[in-house]
Amino acid sequence: MQIKINPTLTPDIIFRCASLHKSFFPKDHFSSLLSVNTLSCYYNCIFEQSNYSIIAFDGDEVVGFLFAGSSYRGIQKKMILNNTFDMILTLLKHPKYLIEKLFTYNKYVKTTSDYRILSIVVNNHKRKVRGVDLLKTLFMQANTNIGLSVNYKNINAINFYFRNGFIVDGFSGKNLLLSKC
Ligand SMILES: CC(C)(COP(=O)(O)OP(=O)(O)OC[C@H]1O[C@@H](n2cnc3c(N)ncnc32)[C@H](O)[C@@H]1OP(=O)(O)O)[C@@H](O)C(=O)NCCC(=O)NCCS
Repeated sequence: MQIKINPTLTPDIIFRCASLHKSFFPKDHFSSLLSVNTLSCYYNCIFEQSNYSIIAFDGDEVVGFLFAGSSYRGIQKKMILNNTFDMILTLLKHPKYLIEKLFTYNKYVKTTSDYRILSIVVNNHKRKVRGVDLLKTLFMQANTNIGLSVNYKNINAINFYFRNGFIVDGFSGKNLLLSKC
């Protein structure tokens, strides 16, 4: 297993990140209902906005990743505009997310931190890399305060952040804002 910092991100690597997200994000999270193609577009947007792309490889396979950048602004809007059909289809199939999306569309919550974790996922079945390894790599690169927002139902991720010294900075709709100095 090898952790690479800011490797050249090919469409294949982006696709692998999207597949990992689809497989390992909590199933009650709206994004895990989207197609891998739509998620690939999401990760393209995330990558464009990232200052740090930290990817764990096992051979060619992506077994974990962390993207961090100074802003999440525009990522969601761009993804919706580029994948309107898939988004509408997914919302029609799962109407319980419709109200939530209408209220949060284009709402951007700025954290007080310099950098923000835009996404982190590890392959929890293979256990080749741990989330903490990716987080430590980020801390070594970006020696500043780091923030993020996480769905309040994602207890596993919230505990992970608490174990690693993050504290609650605020709330925004269904999300907790966390930060670490
Ligand atoms: C959130 C996430 C990145 C955390 O990564 P992780 O590798 O599971 O977490 P850790 O790095 O803390 O795990 C390291 C070890 O701590 C262990 N651990 C788990 N709970 C623990 C606890 N309460 N106390 C101490 N150790 C614990 C794990 O079993 C693991 O041990 P192992 O290496 O022997 O298997 C990962 O669970 C994930 O990808 N989740 C899905 C995507 C997601 O929700 N992302 C966050 C969105 S904001």
